[in-house]
Amino acid sequence: MHEILVGGGTVLDATGARRADVLVGEGRITAVAESIEAPAGALVLDAGGCLVTPGLVDLHTHLREPGREEAETVETGARAAALGGYTAVVAMPNTDPAIDSAAVVRQVLDLGAKAVCQVSVAGAISVGRAGELLAPLAEMAALGVRIFTDDGAGVQDGRLMRRALEYAGPLGVVLAQHCEDASLAAGGHMNEGEWSSRLGIPGVPAEAEEVMVMRDIALARLTGGRVHFLHLSTAGSVAMVGAAKAQGLAVTAEAAPHHLCLTDAEVSGYDTRFKVNPPLRSAADAAAVRRGVASGVIDAIATDHAPHTQEAKEAPFDQAPPGMTGLETTLAVALTELCQAGDDPGRNLKPAEVVAALSWQPAAIAGLSDQGGPVAPGRPAHLCVFDPGQSWVVDPARTASRSRNNPWAGRSLTGRVRHTVYGGEAVVIDGEAQR
Ligand code: DOR
Repeated sequence: MHEILVGGGTVLDATGARRADVLVGEGRITAVAESIEAPAGALVLDAGGCLVTPGLVDLHTHLREPGREEAETVETGARAAALGGYTAVVAMPNTDPAIDSAAVVRQVLDLGAKAVCQVSVAGAISVGRAGELLAPLAEMAALGVRIFTDDGAGVQDGRLMRRALEYAGPLGVVLAQHCEDASLAAGGHMNEGEWSSRLGIPGVPAEAEEVMVMRDIALARLTGGRVHFLHLSTAGSVAMVGAAKAQGLAVTAEAAPHHLCLTDAEVSGYDTRFKVNPPLRSAADAAAVRRGVASGVIDAIATDHAPHTQEAKEAPFDQAPPGMTGLETTLAVALTELCQAGDDPGRNLKPAEVVAALSWQPAAIAGLSDQGGPVAPGRPAHLCVFDPGQSWVVDPARTASRSRNNPWAGRSLTGRVRHTVYGGEAVVIDGEAQR
């Protein structure tokens, strides 16, 4: 493997920002200094005008393997991740079969070992994600699984969730909840509100999410177990998680890029690219989610990259599966939407705060100590190099994902990944995947 010199950029990590070149060799960062001469034979990556940050870490990626390879595979999803600046993703377990046993964990980890980013695995909380029997958490934790979730569905049975949290503590793992009360959400396909009434599409009320957030905060208090709230979408959820954190409870939260900026008005054309679960909410909810990121109540921005085939998404709105892709657009969406000048604290973040929510904060939640920086000699060489000022138009035809259900198609975003270095290998150079 070549040595790599990332030259001319501004290094940004949890310790701050400074003008520095970064030298990489044998999988690790070997030097960080204001000016480093390229060693003979080194690959030089130009980072002029760019931020050089620890690789991004996605807590919430649907890689679809095993079972739904027509929509995505570990290989293609990881390539999309690398193009989006990610050097690690957590693969969600709502596969077929579900990742609910050591055998399936091993299968996905083996596939991930060949991929162009680190593929960490989330295990299911319940067998088959059916919400009835506790899955073998300890056996999966022994293989390094640190996050458990039935994502795609919430754990409806409070007693099962309590038991899972009681096991989670001693295992040192976190339970990630898809907060959705199935009885309150039943039959709904979009946010319940003015738009669902106008369009005649049955809605899912904010309360379907909020009652489970409320319950799991209570269960975190009861058990001392760690709860991570997935893809929060409502102002009420953000407020409750903020209050729980203020009480010192072991809770963390993430928001998906679409909940930061898209609203239920997008559904007005019945375009199934805007069908997602939890659904796009009101403008006030999106503003509250943005402010949650700004205040730190929301620790991480996670893609909820949910690829679906064109065929599946061509179904009528009420029959189409929920989900949107996001690995290649999340950094740019977050920079575009959150880093605007002005008085709104939810739109006035610094790039460093956005990168914190995309890199070291999610790395800490997932227990990925090799990820998230700092950019310092001796650390594993996982780097994202992006130009925060470059605008581009999203073209889903150019995606590395097998699926094209991206809601930003045709929109202009600001902030573009130039290079990604994973384990000392330049897997993306000048915006092009290398393998
Ligand atoms: O929109 C969604 N799609 N929400 C989920 O919770 C699951 C995901 C998927 O797997 O497609």
